[in-house]
Amino acid sequence: MATTGKAKRIVLVSQDKAFVQETKAALAASDAFDLVAIERGVLDLRGEIQEADCGAAIIDMDAARLDQVEALQRIIRRLEGKTPIIVATQEFNAAAVRILVQLQVADFLVKPVSTADLVRSCLRALHGPGREENAESQIYAFMPAAGGVGNTTLALQTAFQLHHSLTRGAATCVVDLNFQQGACAEYLDLEPRFDIAEIENQPERLDRQLLDVMLSKHASGLCVLAAPTRPSEMRTFNTEIVVRMLDLVSAYFDNVVIDLPRTWFPWTETVLLGSNKLYLVTEMTVPCLRHTQRLIQAIYDTVGREVKPNVIVNRFEQKMFESGIRQADVQEILGDHFAGGIANNYKLVREAVDRGVPLHEIDANANVIADLRRIILPEEAAAAAPKKARSLFGLGSGLLRKRA
Ligand SMILES: Nc1ncnc2c1ncn2[C@@H]1O[C@H](COP(=O)(O)OP(=O)(O)O)[C@@H](O)[C@H]1O
Ligand SMILES: [Mg+2]
Repeated sequence: MATTGKAKRIVLVSQDKAFVQETKAALAASDAFDLVAIERGVLDLRGEIQEADCGAAIIDMDAARLDQVEALQRIIRRLEGKTPIIVATQEFNAAAVRILVQLQVADFLVKPVSTADLVRSCLRALHGPGREENAESQIYAFMPAAGGVGNTTLALQTAFQLHHSLTRGAATCVVDLNFQQGACAEYLDLEPRFDIAEIENQPERLDRQLLDVMLSKHASGLCVLAAPTRPSEMRTFNTEIVVRMLDLVSAYFDNVVIDLPRTWFPWTETVLLGSNKLYLVTEMTVPCLRHTQRLIQAIYDTVGREVKPNVIVNRFEQKMFESGIRQADVQEILGDHFAGGIANNYKLVREAVDRGVPLHEIDANANVIADLRRIILPEEAAAAAPKKARSLFGLGSGLLRKRA
């Protein structure tokens, strides 16, 4: 998450040891927060919050109990509404919600609270609702329709484009969910450091600090969460671990790009449902396009219509052989799921993979990069277009001047 300025103090009032621990873990090691825990009940508070001089307070209480609500009201009055209050509560009912709304608390969270919700809520309380839109992280999921279609290549390049983007910029993380044969780290010449065995039986151990240890960092600042490949092991992970991992990553990064495996796992549905954008990567062959059609149907059948699959046709050729598929066929088969094509550029992609560098390091103006930008960041691609025209014009007048 992008953090500017110095840390703001957040006071947590809670008697629930587990919740104090979770909150500490969620907010630890982020530059944005400085957490102070007061391990007391809301009824036992005196002037502690006021004295702590904090940017926001999280109060863990039972919102269904009148005496506790009255205690909260006293705190709010004492603070003169200057400090945003986040209420965390176990019990939740319509009457409690109404009272909390009337008291104008900044937010209320129902326990158990996810790390992402907690961090977002704190950021919102500290920075006001204006930040809300940017604070919300965007999750881009890439799913291949077949093996070797370029899913990893395009997911990584998307991550770089988002990372360097003017509108979506700031922190970006790639999550490689190919636990068996992930290639993300390898493609960028990084050492994969995500040790799943360490958290397998206790996913709650995965906190910000552990995540930091397990992230691989590219020189550009892009982060990659990838496990070392174990070709001979068939491992499955429970949904809880995958959810916990994505929850944590999305709390700290503005953009999360997921490289999904071809195989459908028990957690696949959850990942798709949690994504803001879903891209299916396919190729221009009849079997591949047919399979893409089936994949689209399978996604609608399992996840419903909330997530729209956008199909990227990699190694796209305008004119295939006489008997081959044409753009019109692609459009007919995929309908409005067709998001765009990516040029076939074997030399560029091959060199990038072999050298372990991103595509733009070899050629920033490569067709593959421009094609992808039009799909992922259409506004920025459009804004960049006139600039190109201007530079051509500049070149033209320069030539003219030289001649004159
Ligand atoms: N647009 C492209 N043009 C040419 N070759 C490509 C393109 N995209 C990917 N490739 C090549 O295809 C192969 C598979 O790519 P990869 O990203 O590993 O696919 P996947 O993750 O779907 O298995 C790699 O050798 C890569 O260099
Ligand atoms: Mg791959």
